[in-house]
Amino acid sequence: MEKNAIVGQSGGPTSVINSSLAGVFQACSMRGAPRVYGMLNGVQGLLEERVCDLTERLSSYMDIELLKRTPSSFLGSCRYKLPEPDEDESVYIKLFGILEKLGIGYFFYIGGNDSMDTIGKLSEYGKRTGSDIRFIGVPKTIDNDLMLTDHTPGFGSAAKYIGVVMKEIIRDATVYGNRFVTIVEVMGRNAGWLTASAALARGEDCEGADLICLPEIPFHIDRFLEKVERMQKEKQSVVIAVSEGVKLPDGRFVCELSDDHRTKDAFGHINLTGTARYLSNLVARNMPTRSRAVELSILQRCGAHISSRTDITEAFQVGGAAAKAAFEGKTAMMVALDRLSDDPYQCTTKLVDIKEVANYEKKVPVEWINEQRTDMTQEFLSYARPLIQAELTPIFINGLTQHIVGV
Ligand code: F6P
Repeated sequence: MEKNAIVGQSGGPTSVINSSLAGVFQACSMRGAPRVYGMLNGVQGLLEERVCDLTERLSSYMDIELLKRTPSSFLGSCRYKLPEPDEDESVYIKLFGILEKLGIGYFFYIGGNDSMDTIGKLSEYGKRTGSDIRFIGVPKTIDNDLMLTDHTPGFGSAAKYIGVVMKEIIRDATVYGNRFVTIVEVMGRNAGWLTASAALARGEDCEGADLICLPEIPFHIDRFLEKVERMQKEKQSVVIAVSEGVKLPDGRFVCELSDDHRTKDAFGHINLTGTARYLSNLVARNMPTRSRAVELSILQRCGAHISSRTDITEAFQVGGAAAKAAFEGKTAMMVALDRLSDDPYQCTTKLVDIKEVANYEKKVPVEWINEQRTDMTQEFLSYARPLIQAELTPIFINGLTQHIVGV
């Protein structure tokens, strides 16, 4: 008798993480898994035996179509760090006991760096204890910072969102013809891929951002103020994209200079909001100009009304490729995207060793940032442009986008 499959979603949500869920679900069902279970709130929920039966819940074609268009994590998410097995084996004994009870042979986790750490630890423990469960990671993160994959599902849609809203912000910021500095804060803790996507806005109908600040380049407050002052001598309205993760030369995040209260997640990451607000206040205090901070915040993660169809399709494909790998006996792997060419854009999937992905971060190559450290080069644009192509029209009901919810 064929074994059942289980799938979980973990970390920050994206616009297309549910498309990967749909890919895993369909491929496992087609390959003969009698039941496909979903972990509610990832491994944390699994430890409390909170699971749902997706085979029952996703029973129609319409469910799958809605799932592909529904942002955020259908199954709920968690930021939960598994202990090292040598420190606390009881968690593993409990988890493997639950998996055995559910008759699981295939385990999928859709997530970013921290989630790949979970797959790494579970597969290692499984190997050590002779379990035949296969553990496969499915990449996801708007931050695009996973190693060994050309890009991550979720990034293309967030980059498209940022490109679109930057164009709209730039139109708004120029309307009065007065001195104005607009500072737009973009997510991305240590890697500036998303902030770099602000460069996509420039085109024949848009002058583009005037300054792009990534966490890869140390941020000097005095030089920043000088630059803004200089730019405003040439242009009344200056629009700046700044990463939430920009750091001072001493390694502190710029937002830590503000006196906002900060909390930490289970992985010890502090929450980084407030960079744009801090810089905007500084500008207004030091120059005769109005300044406004725009925090894109969670809007950029779940803006599924403007998803990239390329991204949705690839998210679905990596889910399917994960199921194929597991059913072919692979374990301790992550599915990666392998770009064959930029133009025409062609991309396929491959498998990479989970140990080489978990807990590493891929940064924006500094050669893709211009010499003045104000903008991105053509290499970045050629890399990012294919990922934002095409749209999948949302299903509108009563004037609003329709989602599938409620497991
Ligand atoms: O998913 C990644 C990410 O969006 C980061 O860019 C951001 O720093 C972080 O998640 C914040 O997520 P949350 O506030 O949900 O923990």
